[in-house]
Amino acid sequence: MKIGGNTVLITGGATGIGLAMAEEFVKGGSEVIICGRTEETLKQAKARLPSLHIKKCDVAKETECEALYEWAVANFKNLNVLVNNAGIQRMIDFRKGTQDLLRHRATDGEDEIEVNLKAPIYITALFVPHLMNQKEAAVINVSSGLAFFPMAPMPVYCATKAAVHTFCLTLRQQLEGTSVKVFELIPPMVDTNLDKGARKARGQTYFGLTTAEFIIPAMKAFENDEYEIRVQDPKLAAMREGHPGGSPLEQKKW
Ligand SMILES: NC(=O)c1ccc[n+]([C@@H]2O[C@H](COP(=O)([O-])OP(=O)(O)OC[C@H]3O[C@@H](n4cnc5c(N)ncnc54)[C@H](OP(=O)(O)O)[C@@H]3O)[C@@H](O)[C@H]2O)c1
Repeated sequence: MKIGGNTVLITGGATGIGLAMAEEFVKGGSEVIICGRTEETLKQAKARLPSLHIKKCDVAKETECEALYEWAVANFKNLNVLVNNAGIQRMIDFRKGTQDLLRHRATDGEDEIEVNLKAPIYITALFVPHLMNQKEAAVINVSSGLAFFPMAPMPVYCATKAAVHTFCLTLRQQLEGTSVKVFELIPPMVDTNLDKGARKARGQTYFGLTTAEFIIPAMKAFENDEYEIRVQDPKLAAMREGHPGGSPLEQKKW
């Protein structure tokens, strides 16, 4: 996939990995649209990258996804790359029954299954027919290394990301022979606000790759049409050496 000449929509593109990707696509000569729930964060991203187009959208709400689709295809007829990047991560302890599950829904109105799984599936369904009419197109779904090496503190998150992986496999099979390439971006731990301080609270002292360290090899992999992109973190690999049951991070009591 080329990095320049695209029109790219990135969900959750105002911060972290999404913003880093937006920056690289803009630098490469693509037009980029980002969406997210927080107006202020979207405006901050635009102040940093003035050519960005911003749109408020809560991807957990189907009606907002539909409005995003209508707006995007009406205003950006050449939109040819969809990046399902928006995601949340919560600590959920099943030994407390439904307490954590319900607390997250009640306090922030957030549900990992809605945001991490149902939303990318619904948004993909909305956009695929449009993408199939483009000469070259792509869907990029952001899963996680935790889809493959799950960690106890965030069981629902890991399950949603494993499901995103499976979704990529079948979507790629369905779209074979069309103009739409299906990429799965599988980040290792990256130092963003995804965990909302939970890593620190769990006693971790290492927070992963910077977004810059992560995004450069990821963009190269898009260019090389690597459909399953696993960016390695040598520091984390070194920490795992000699810990066959998992890294010191994973062995922390929670
Ligand atoms: N950081 C890591 O270690 C890591 C590792 C593996 C995979 N990932 C994945 O990478 C992706 C990006 O995460 P990140 O690390 O860059 O964290 P981040 O900075 O927190 O980015 C997540 C973005 O998603 C947006 N978002 C959350 N809920 C949304 C909703 N309902 N509707 C629309 N936008 C929503 C957030 O903006 P608003 O809150 O303003 O909506 C935020 O901009 C996620 O899918 C995450 O699971 C991250």
